[in-house]
Amino acid sequence: MNPPEPSGVQLRFATPDDAVTLADLDRRAGPWPWPAAHYQVPCRGTDPAQGRVLLLEGATGPLAAVVYSRVLELGEIQNVISDPGHRRLGLARHLLSEVLAQLRIEGAERCLLEVRASNGPAIALYRRCGFVVDGRRRNYYPLGSGREDALLMSLPL
Ligand SMILES: CC(C)(COP(=O)(O)OP(=O)(O)OC[C@H]1O[C@@H](n2cnc3c(N)ncnc32)[C@H](O)[C@@H]1OP(=O)(O)O)[C@@H](O)C(=O)NCCC(=O)NCCS
Repeated sequence: MNPPEPSGVQLRFATPDDAVTLADLDRRAGPWPWPAAHYQVPCRGTDPAQGRVLLLEGATGPLAAVVYSRVLELGEIQNVISDPGHRRLGLARHLLSEVLAQLRIEGAERCLLEVRASNGPAIALYRRCGFVVDGRRRNYYPLGSGREDALLMSLPL
């Protein structure tokens, strides 16, 4: 069952004006933020293959965001972030459910993602949304010192 619509937030696609705010949210969200420039293209949202951003906006700005893309029948979750002051309220799960529904409408048949093997909260979120682990890339992500594996997860849509 999909989570209920959270109250007091607005669901919308990002625009280029959101790129700086989303990069700031990402820096506050976790230890491995994207470079700010990575938000510019998906915030334009002109090409599904290059990414789009669906976000939940609260009174003072975005509270959570999902960056995703689609090439033909294959969707990909590129990033999910939520505001540290609003965790475990179901915001990321709600947003991810909306993205998966959108991908289905567009004809995607499967959704893929990669996640750091040490990222317990994100892995739990993806499992809760139905993703299963079906692969591993050894030493894929840089760490402070050394590297760590990526788990590959997927969900039939
Ligand atoms: C991962 C992240 C997006 C989760 O955001 P959130 O809004 O707190 O997630 P939700 O409240 O929607 O959680 C949905 C479910 O995910 C799981 N989950 C989320 N955070 C969890 C945690 N810290 N520990 C265990 N399970 C967790 C739970 O099953 C939860 O459901 P429940 O609260 O009913 O038990 C957030 O922790 C975050 O922004 N992390 C830093 C950025 C990041 O690592 N993104 C992933 C990149 S691949």
